[in-house]
Amino acid sequence: MPATLTRIPLCTLDDLPLGLGRAFKVGDTPIAVFQSRGGKVFAVDGFCPHKGGPLADGMIAGDQVVCPYHAFRFHSDTGACDQPGVCALTTYPVEVVGGQVYVTVS
Ligand code: FES
Repeated sequence: MPATLTRIPLCTLDDLPLGLGRAFKVGDTPIAVFQSRGGKVFAVDGFCPHKGGPLADGMIAGDQVVCPYHAFRFHSDTGACDQPGVCALTTYPVEVVGGQVYVTVS
């Protein structure tokens, strides 16, 4: 049976610091939401699959999130890691409508 997708109003765009991340919990799912300096808003898993680094505390480098623990990089669209043998992050669809940020989770 396919997973049910739920679109959740998460915060306002102003709640997201420009160029940084912010941690949220949607149900039991921790997610990290970023607003790049170019205005791109995206959401990924809250914790790094390597050793659990809190990704909302990481930096944005181009289209990648840099884990604050060991600097592995994950692509903001695909979640793919730049290191061999490390699982990709789950990424979550984000929409910004009228200054409200929505994230879709299963
Ligand atoms: S915990 Fe994220 S790179 Fe090691």
